[in-house]
Amino acid sequence: MDDRVVSGETTNFDERFEQSLRPEYLSQYIGQEKVKDNLSIFIEAAKGRSESLDHVLLYGPPGLGKTTLATVIANEMNVNIKMTSGPAIERPGDLAAVVSSLEPGDVLFIDEIHRLNRAIEEVLYPAMEDFCLDIVVGKGPTARSIRLDLPPFTLIGATTRAGALSAPLRDRFGVPLRLEFYGEEPLTEIVVRSAVIFDVTIDRLAAIEIAKRSRGTPRIANRLLRRVRDYAQVRGDGSITLQTSREALEMLQVDSHGLDHIDHKLITGMIERFQGGPVGVDTIAASIGEESVTIEDVYEPYLLQIGFIQRTPRGRVATALAYNHFGYAVSDNESGR
Ligand SMILES: Nc1ncnc2c1ncn2[C@@H]1O[C@H](COP(=O)(O)OP(=O)(O)O)[C@@H](O)[C@H]1O
Ligand SMILES: [Mg+2]
Repeated sequence: MDDRVVSGETTNFDERFEQSLRPEYLSQYIGQEKVKDNLSIFIEAAKGRSESLDHVLLYGPPGLGKTTLATVIANEMNVNIKMTSGPAIERPGDLAAVVSSLEPGDVLFIDEIHRLNRAIEEVLYPAMEDFCLDIVVGKGPTARSIRLDLPPFTLIGATTRAGALSAPLRDRFGVPLRLEFYGEEPLTEIVVRSAVIFDVTIDRLAAIEIAKRSRGTPRIANRLLRRVRDYAQVRGDGSITLQTSREALEMLQVDSHGLDHIDHKLITGMIERFQGGPVGVDTIAASIGEESVTIEDVYEPYLLQIGFIQRTPRGRVATALAYNHFGYAVSDNESGR
């Protein structure tokens, strides 16, 4: 959708690499300790009872490892995974087609589950609760409803916006798990692990430098690593040092906090045009030519996480940290934040 080097969203280009970088088992899934602790208990318990795992909802910003974790869960449970997405299921028949191919215990993964339409949700409820599917076949006076029995299965839903899920759907997930931004250490480990898979030598300090600028997001860390690798190959001897990684990141215009020109535009816009806020998301979106949902799902979560902006009932506010980072005096702000 965009070509930002620090966007957490996936691109076709990423997908070519992501398959090879995806951890397969919990032991290879770095970070997210709380989530892993919870999951490993539920997985062991379900396996001990020879039952399917409860339905799992994974939520959090793009690129944090939701799809990866879904495949890890299926591997740990030793079952197949069928993958689809909210927008791909247009009619009840589309859902029937995927679920009827499930074997006992299998995982059905629905990405972007907040984008399921209401009619599909209604069909999904009995499928989740009683493992059966009521579908209407035929049209008009000859239409009739048939009931399909399904094997017990695990629905894993993934979403960047748990708030956009209807309450009845959310309530049907026994295991809701929220993925958090990664700290510097787990991200460094991810960079080192990916470098091994790419067969490129990297200094520890270079891996830390990349981790620091990856917005707490493994997808971005892997993407920056690929770009830095290219740079090291063309400008150096192929191995990644702190020096080459800094030069490459500078060339990519990713700053010390992992912020790029769009973050820059967003925050300096708030400061210069709206006195640091409060300013509504819609206004911010219009001022930088983006959609409000993109601001809320993609740009804003990390800026909130590092404390550069705050959410208030009257809109978004740029904080003193943001003023300092972008070289404004905090006293420029009339309300004196
Ligand atoms: N915990 C992790 N450990 C190692 N690599 C990870 C981890 N989480 C994500 N990744 C890497 O980041 C990439 C993006 O993860 P993905 O599961 O596609 O994110 P999401 O579905 O949340 O957008 C994956 O290809 C994988 O290589
Ligand atoms: Mg995904």
